[in-house]
Amino acid sequence: MQSVTTQRHDDVLVIIVNNPPVNALSWHVRQGLKDGVAEALGDASVKAVVIRCDGSTFIAGADITEFTQAPKEPALGDTLDAMETSSKPIIAAIHGTALGGGLETTLCCHYRIAEPSAKLGVPEVKLGLLPGAGGTQRLPRLVGVEAAAAMCAGGDPVPAAKALEMGLVDRLAGEDSLAADAIAFAREMIAKGPRATRDLPVKGDASGIEAIKAANARKWKGFDAPYANLACVEAATRLPFDEGMAFERTEFMKLMMGSQSAAQRHMFFAERQAAKIDGLAKDIQLREIKKVGVIGAGTMGGGISMNFLAKGIPVTIVEMVQENLDRGVGVIRKNYEASAAKGRFTSEQVEAMMGALTPSLSLDDLADCDLVIEAVYESMDVKKEVFGKLDAICKPGAILASNTSYLDVDEIAAATSRPQDVVGMHFFSPANVMKLLEVVRGAKTADDVLSTAMATGKRIGKVAVVAGVCHGFIGNRMLSTRQAPAMQLLLEGATPAQIDKVHTDFGMPMGPFQMSDLAGLDIGWHRDPSKIETIRDALCAADRFGQKNGKGFYDYDAKRVGTESPEALAIIEKFRATSNLPKRDISDQEIIERTLYPMVNEGYKILEEGKAQRASDIDVVWIYGYGWPVYRGGPMFWGALEGEGKIVEALERHGIAVADSLKAKA
Ligand code: 3HC
Repeated sequence: MQSVTTQRHDDVLVIIVNNPPVNALSWHVRQGLKDGVAEALGDASVKAVVIRCDGSTFIAGADITEFTQAPKEPALGDTLDAMETSSKPIIAAIHGTALGGGLETTLCCHYRIAEPSAKLGVPEVKLGLLPGAGGTQRLPRLVGVEAAAAMCAGGDPVPAAKALEMGLVDRLAGEDSLAADAIAFAREMIAKGPRATRDLPVKGDASGIEAIKAANARKWKGFDAPYANLACVEAATRLPFDEGMAFERTEFMKLMMGSQSAAQRHMFFAERQAAKIDGLAKDIQLREIKKVGVIGAGTMGGGISMNFLAKGIPVTIVEMVQENLDRGVGVIRKNYEASAAKGRFTSEQVEAMMGALTPSLSLDDLADCDLVIEAVYESMDVKKEVFGKLDAICKPGAILASNTSYLDVDEIAAATSRPQDVVGMHFFSPANVMKLLEVVRGAKTADDVLSTAMATGKRIGKVAVVAGVCHGFIGNRMLSTRQAPAMQLLLEGATPAQIDKVHTDFGMPMGPFQMSDLAGLDIGWHRDPSKIETIRDALCAADRFGQKNGKGFYDYDAKRVGTESPEALAIIEKFRATSNLPKRDISDQEIIERTLYPMVNEGYKILEEGKAQRASDIDVVWIYGYGWPVYRGGPMFWGALEGEGKIVEALERHGIAVADSLKAKA
C-alpha cells in the first residue's frame, strides 16, 4: 500500500499520509510528500494544497527506526524545502499529535488548521536530540524566541487552543470536520498566496534564555540536549535563516552521534517493549478491574491507593486499627490537597477522589474487589496469614497481589487454594509518584492474571516490567550488589560522601549512603546497642537512624539537607580500626568498578536465570524505579557502552565472580 496518496477537490489537491501506527516520516512518506507537491505545481488547475493524515494522528515525527540505518533519499530537508518554497499555498490539517519532524512539516506549510483536541510539540529533547529539520529556526519566527525556547528545550506539547493563542496554528477546525474545514481554509488562502515561515522576522530576543537555564538547572543536570536546543534558538536571533539552519544541523549531528541520544532512543523503545510479554497469546482476555482493595494504609498502601483513585477507580483500604486507618486516610487527603494547591487538581476533583475511597477495619469488605493489593509488613508469616484470609473472603476470579519487595511470591501463593490468581505488584516509594511497577510472575500465575496486572499498571500511568521470583526481583536484587561493596569500601578508607559523590556525579539522584539514610538505618536492626558487628550497628547504637531523626551517615538540618558528619566519620573510623584493614586512598574509578560494575554483572545473572525477559527491561527498572540517569540508558545499556571486556577484567581483579554470559561477551 502506498503511504502517501492524493485526492482532488476541484481546485484543491489534498495530500494524504497513511503510514501506521503514527505516520512517521519514513523515506517513502518524504518521497510521497515531495511528489504530491510536484503534482500540485505541475497542474495549473490546482490552486492550493492541503496535507492531512489518516489514522489516529498527524505525523508524529521522523521515523526513529531509520536513525541507525544508512540515510535514504529524499532527505527531510529537501522535501520540506519543496513545500515551503511552493508557489501555491499549502495548508497543514492537524489532528492527534503533530510532533518533532511532524510539527516541522507543518512549519513548512504556509498555514495551519488544527482540531481542538490536537497537540503540537517538538519532543526531540526527550530523545537527546533537537528539532533537526528547521524547528529551532522557524519556531522563533512563528511563535517568538521565548516560546520557541520553552518548546524546544522542554519538549512538552501544547494543546491546540494554546497553539492558536501563540500563533502556532492559524485556525481551529470543528472536532469532526477537519478535512472539509481545511479545504475551505485552503480556498480562502488562494488569494493571499503562500507565506513562508523562513521569511518572517524573528520575534523577540535571546534575553530570557539564561533565566530558562537557571530555572531548569537541577532538572537538566548532566543532559546535553536541552542546552543544545537553547543554543540553536539563540542562534536564530543573530544569524540569517540559512546560517541558522547550518548551525542547527551541526548541533543536531553532534547529538545524534553522541551516547546520550543513543541511550535515550534506546529507552524510548525499551519502555514500549517492556509492556510486551513473550510467549503469551495476543488475544488474551483481560480480567475486568472495576474495584480495588488495598491492605495497609501506611506509606505504601496509601500511595498505591492514590494511583487508582486518581483514575476514578474505587478503592477499599483496610487497616487493623482505627487510629492507623485515620492517619493513612488523612495523609492521602493531605497529599491531594497539596497537589490541588499547586493547581494539579481542583478541589472538586480532590473530593471526588476521596469520595471513591472506602476506609475499613475488616478484610471482609474486600469480598467484591476485582484486585486486592496487599501492602502489609514485610514478613512471610504475616503475608501468608493475610493471603490465607483473602482466599476465604475474595470472590472467585479476583486477582490477589502482593506488594512485597523481596519475598517469594510462590510461597505466598501457596497459602491460598488459587495460586493461579496470585501475582506480585511491587510499587516503588513514593508509590503515587514513582513510575515503575515490577509485576512478579509466580510459577503458577495464570497468563490472564499477568496480562491484567501489566495492563492495570499502564492504566494507572506506570511503566510495568515483568520480573521472575527471586530475592529482591530485578531492582532490589541489583541494589544489594552495590550496597555491600559500598560498605566494604568504608572499611578500606573511603568516606560516605566520596562514594555518594561518585554516584551523584554519575547522574544518580543519590548515592548508597544518602539512600540508606532516607530509608532508615534502623530497619532490620537487632536493637542491641552492645552488639556492634557492622558500621550500621555502630551508627544505630549511637542513635543515628538516618533522616528520620536528623542523623545517620550525614547530619541533617530541619529541611533534611545533609552535610558531612564529624561524629559519623569518627564512629566509622573507630569501627574501621577494629577491622585491621590498612587504610588507603580509594580512587573514584575503583568506586565505579566495585559498586556499579557488580550491578551490570548481576543483570547478566538475572537474564541467565530468566528472571527478566530482556536486558532492556532491566534498564527500564533502574531508570523508572531508582533514577538511573536516562542519558546513560540503564545499567545494561551503559555496561555495553563501557565495554564488557573492561568490566570483566575489573570484576576479576576485585575477586568478584563474573556471570558466564558476561564473560562470553567480553
Ligand atoms: N518513529 C518510529 N516508530 C515510532 C515513532 C517514531 N517517531 N513514534 C512511535 N513509534 C512506534 C512505537 O515504537 C510503537 O511501536 P510498537 O507498537 O511496535 O511498540 C508504536 O509506534 C506506537 O507508539 P506508542 O506505543 O508510543 O503509541 P501511543 O499512541 O501511546 O503514542 C505518540 C503515540 C504520542 C506519537 C508516541 O509514540 C510518541 O511520543 N512518539 C515519539 C514522538 C517523537 O519523539 N517524535 C520526534 C521524533 S525525532 C524527530 O522528529 C527528528 C526531527 O526533528 C528531524
